[in-house]
Amino acid sequence: MISTRRGRKPSSPVKELPLGRARVAASILDSDLGNLAYSVRRAEKEGADRIHLDVMDGHFVPNITFGPRTIRALRKRTKLPFDAHLMISEPGRYIEQFLDAGCDSVTIHVEIEEPIEPTLRAIRAAGRAAGLSLRPKTPLSALEPYKALLDIVLVMTVEPGFGGQSFMADVAREKILAARGLLSHKLHGAEVHVDGGVNRETAELIGGLAADVLVVGSALWIPGRNMGREIRLIRALADEGYQYTLNDGRPPIPRDRVVTFATLPRHLARTFQAEIEKVGIPVLVFRSGGLDVEEPDEVRDWDMLLPASSEAAALERFGARRDAMLREAAAWRAAGMPPVPFVPAPLPPRPDEVVT
Ligand code: DX5
Ligand code: ZN
Repeated sequence: MISTRRGRKPSSPVKELPLGRARVAASILDSDLGNLAYSVRRAEKEGADRIHLDVMDGHFVPNITFGPRTIRALRKRTKLPFDAHLMISEPGRYIEQFLDAGCDSVTIHVEIEEPIEPTLRAIRAAGRAAGLSLRPKTPLSALEPYKALLDIVLVMTVEPGFGGQSFMADVAREKILAARGLLSHKLHGAEVHVDGGVNRETAELIGGLAADVLVVGSALWIPGRNMGREIRLIRALADEGYQYTLNDGRPPIPRDRVVTFATLPRHLARTFQAEIEKVGIPVLVFRSGGLDVEEPDEVRDWDMLLPASSEAAALERFGARRDAMLREAAAWRAAGMPPVPFVPAPLPPRPDEVVT
C-alpha cells in the first residue's frame, strides 16, 4: 500500500468501467436517509454504475420521500449519473425542477392522469433520457402510444412505494424482454430497467430477459454486507443469465467496446459521421495509424469508431452507404486527391433531434 503521508489512507483506486452488459443502479430509498450524501458516495465507491432516486408524493403511492431540492444537493456529492424515478401524480408541474436539479434521466409513470407526452418531450428537449414506468398490473401495451419518445422502459416487479418487497417473477417474464420491442426505434442506448426485488437470487433471471439496468435497493443496504461484492455479483449473474439464456453461450458484447466501422479520408468520414449520428448511433473519428505519419490531415485516412453493440444496426442501415463512400474515397485517391471543402466535425444531435 502506498501512502503519501503517514496515517493517511490512500485514495480509492480509479474505477475501471465494468465489462459486460448489465449495469447496477443503486436505489438509496432504504439507505440511511439521515445521511444521503454518505449513501451516494458509498454507492459510488463500492462500484455502482448509477444512483436511482425514488421520488414519492404520498398520492400516486402511499409513501413520501424527497424532491428536486434534495436531488440538487446530492448532485454535488457524486459523479455517478442520476436516474430519477418519479412516482408522483403531477410530474409535469415539477419537471423543470427535476431537470435543473441535474437528473440524467427522468422516468415517470404511465398510470398518471395528466398528459404524458409534454413531459417526455420536455425531458428530451433538455438533452436527458426520458423513461416510462408501469405498475405490475399495467399491461405493456399502455406504453405503445409513447414509444417513439422513450429512451428507457422501467419495469416494476413490485408494487411501487416501498423497498424490500418480493420480486414478481411472472411480471418479469411477461414484460422485460417484450419491453425491448418498444425501444426498437432507438438504435443505440435504449435501456430496459428492472426495479423491485432485485438481488442475487433474481439477477440471473432478469439478465436472461435482456434487462440493461438492474435497480437494487434494500439488498445493498443490509447491515454488515459487503456492498461492492453484492454489486459485482448481481452484475455478473445478470450477464451469466444473458449469455446462457439468450446468447447461445457467447458472452455479451461489453457495453463500452468500440469497433472501426469504416476508414475514410476526413471530408468523407465527417460527412458519414453526421449521417450516422442523426439516427442516434454515436461515432468517434480519429486519425488512422500513428501520429507521426507525415501526411497532412486532408489526405490521410481517418477511422470511424462506433459502439460494438450498435455495429449490426449500423450495418443494416448504412452498409450500402459505406460501400458507396469507400468507392468515392478510392476514386478521389485515384484522381490524385483534388482539393475538397473543409468539413467540420459535426455536433452530436440532442435526443429530440434524433431521426428514427
Ligand atoms: C420501489 C422503488 C424501488 C425500491 C426498490 O417503489 O421504486 O426503487 O428502492 O427496492 P428493493 O430493491 O428493495 O425492492
Ligand atoms: Zn424505483
